[in-house]
Amino acid sequence: MSEAIGYELHGDIAILAANNPPVNALGHAVRQGLADGMARAEAEGARAVLIYGTGRTYFAGADIREFGKPPKEPHLPELCNRIEASPLLVVSAIHGTALGGGLEVALGTHYRIAVPSAKVGLPEVHLGILPGAGGTQRLPRVAGVEAALDMITSGRHVRADEALKLGVIDRVAEGDPREIGLAYVRELLDEGAPRRPVSEMPAPAPVDFDAVYAAVLKKGRGQLSPATAVRAVQAACEAESFAAGLKRERDLFMELMNSDQREGLIHAFFADRAVGKLPELEGVAPRPLAAIGVIGGGTMGAGIATAALLSGLTVTMLEMTPEAAEAARGRIEGNLSGALKRGKLSQAQFEALTTKALTLATDYAALTEADLVIEAVFEDMEVKKQVFTKLDAVCKPGAVLASNTSYLDINQIAAVTSRPQDVLGLHFFSPAHVMKLLEVVIADQTAPDAAATGFALGKRLGKVSVRAGVCDGFIGNRILSVYRTCADHMILDGASPYEIDEALEEFGFAMGPFAVADLAGLDIGWAVRKRKRAEGLDPRARDSAYADKLCEAGHFGQKTGKGYYDYAAGAKARVPNPEVLPLIEAERAAQGITPRAFGKDEIVRRYMAAMVNEAAKVVGEGIARRPLDVDVTLLYGYGFPRYRGGPLKWADLQGLPELLADIKRWAAEDAYFWQPAPLLEQLVAEGRSFDDLNKEAVS
Ligand code: 3HC
Ligand code: NAI
Repeated sequence: MSEAIGYELHGDIAILAANNPPVNALGHAVRQGLADGMARAEAEGARAVLIYGTGRTYFAGADIREFGKPPKEPHLPELCNRIEASPLLVVSAIHGTALGGGLEVALGTHYRIAVPSAKVGLPEVHLGILPGAGGTQRLPRVAGVEAALDMITSGRHVRADEALKLGVIDRVAEGDPREIGLAYVRELLDEGAPRRPVSEMPAPAPVDFDAVYAAVLKKGRGQLSPATAVRAVQAACEAESFAAGLKRERDLFMELMNSDQREGLIHAFFADRAVGKLPELEGVAPRPLAAIGVIGGGTMGAGIATAALLSGLTVTMLEMTPEAAEAARGRIEGNLSGALKRGKLSQAQFEALTTKALTLATDYAALTEADLVIEAVFEDMEVKKQVFTKLDAVCKPGAVLASNTSYLDINQIAAVTSRPQDVLGLHFFSPAHVMKLLEVVIADQTAPDAAATGFALGKRLGKVSVRAGVCDGFIGNRILSVYRTCADHMILDGASPYEIDEALEEFGFAMGPFAVADLAGLDIGWAVRKRKRAEGLDPRARDSAYADKLCEAGHFGQKTGKGYYDYAAGAKARVPNPEVLPLIEAERAAQGITPRAFGKDEIVRRYMAAMVNEAAKVVGEGIARRPLDVDVTLLYGYGFPRYRGGPLKWADLQGLPELLADIKRWAAEDAYFWQPAPLLEQLVAEGRSFDDLNKEAVS
């Protein structure tokens, strides 16, 4: 027997207890243990088998770390069939999460009992695959096609009470999984309950699968796994036998298993979990965090305050005038009313948050007790310096002082205080109570426990926190400004903003860069361009003024009703703004450029190469610790399609030598913009990938 599965004969009931922490993933040893345990139970004359998990959970799925490696027998689909085919009565007792292969094992058993807190689901589509051990064939037979399609294409976790209603489990009972499982098996044996193999249940009636497939494909924005899973469920209804359905499921599963999308999504899964692991912060305790201050209650400050209030922190909001403070309260109430409408907050909670937990102030004395203060005032170094000078004068010793600046130098901000060890950047994304990303910007003198407090705040607010170093724009905005510049160059050379948006939306971005600019406000980019020009542009850099002209005409994007697009018919019904192309044509004429056509592939290739090249510089300079930190930043803050894993995973999948060759080729036309990143050149020379760097850093 394998140690991953404990075996015990309890009277006439054999108990197979999974012991493979942390989540009882169905790796080779677990599968072997289950197969051996079934054989032993049958050989030793047991009448029934109980399967459950020790520790936190029943099986949380196949062992994802084995994906891409040569599979070892017993394979999971055969194991599920083998469990189901046993002459003994087989029962699962579920706690924690029965996910993916875990639920498939449970569906291979004849009866299922679960504790009320258990959740079940088939989340494989989020990993770029589909349930490949009979889930697409068995779930529709027990829950019906509609419920199965919903669970399999959404991958959502279903609570025990709903699973009971759907027929996915047979009973819910409070208690220890081993004890409730044993009692249930005993009851089933006593009443002479028959074995109940799901594969012998009738095939469910088909639905209009072509229509479902088309709808799911559209919703997936280029992601293939949910739509492919629809075809597997179709086989449950239409294949001539259960075995034929399983075969179809297997073929589709293997197709996805060999896809780049599967690699991208698995990379994203592990990157999510690795991003917060920073050796220098291991064992460093964060400082206490109960009351926070927010300075500036505009778009960002109000969003940050909303997130903090929702996480149970008390917030003091400091504004310039009582009127501005009241306006900030209005914004916070507006944000929270969304949660109220969705039923996530009661009216009483809403009132408590906006009155008791929130204090408005105009005097810095109100911040003396704050454990952490986040500044979100105008993006102007002088204003930021004034704010930090005042904070230094009033905040208690040990208070963490943070700036939400998008681009400015945290070292310079820290230098105006007498306590630079307490200063860092906490860069939220708009809307701050919704967007998951938080860049924790560590300045030269930030103390480890101040950094740990930044990460602790991120965790408390439910954010994905990425460590970033100080530079113009940190990880995300620095890379953004380069790929945006690349898009602007393509426009000068002949592409239109609409062609670029369309190509990148087809690539999988939620919105193209010009639609995003309209959403964020064109005044933001305008201010950055003005600042950079004032600082002095490199004479080799290409510049253009057509976007400034849009702003000068009062077109700031969605908030003014017009930007690159016209929003007269609503945000969703965007149509090109007819003023834009003439402005671009005039700019090209002024610069003596003869426009040329850009195909979608070239648009994507250039845009992505610019992104990857700058990302490689960001990693090479240590601004991002590892390639995966860049990937997570772009996935959570910039709408990068998750199924492509992030820009540096995408680059690995494309092939770094080919990408570098393109960059060098384009350098012949614009040597200033297309300067290859030294790290990219080094990786190509050494025949290594960005993921090799991740593995070295994480291992
Ligand atoms: N395989 C391998 N490792 C896994 C794993 C899996 N299926 N699921 C989780 N882990 C690891 C994590 O990487 C993490 O490792 P670390 O501590 O070294 O970083 C550790 O287990 C704990 O995971 P979390 O930090 O995510 O713990 P949570 O308590 O937050 O969440 C969970 C637990 C809900 C089970 C979550 O881990 C999860 O969603 N896991 C994936 C579940 C899944 O997708 N299952 C389907 C797999 S595919 C499949 O079964 C194919 C089949 O159809 C053939
Ligand atoms: P905003 O203009 O909406 O809000 C700024 C607020 O700060 C205003 O309410 C103003 O009254 C207040 N304020 C200005 N000076 C002040 C002072 N000395 N004391 C107290 N209050 C003061 O600006 P927004 O968009 O919220 O940006 C704030 C900061 O967040 C900037 O540094 C910006 O770069 C950064 N940021 C902005 C993002 C965005 O998408 N808008 C995203 C991430 C960061």
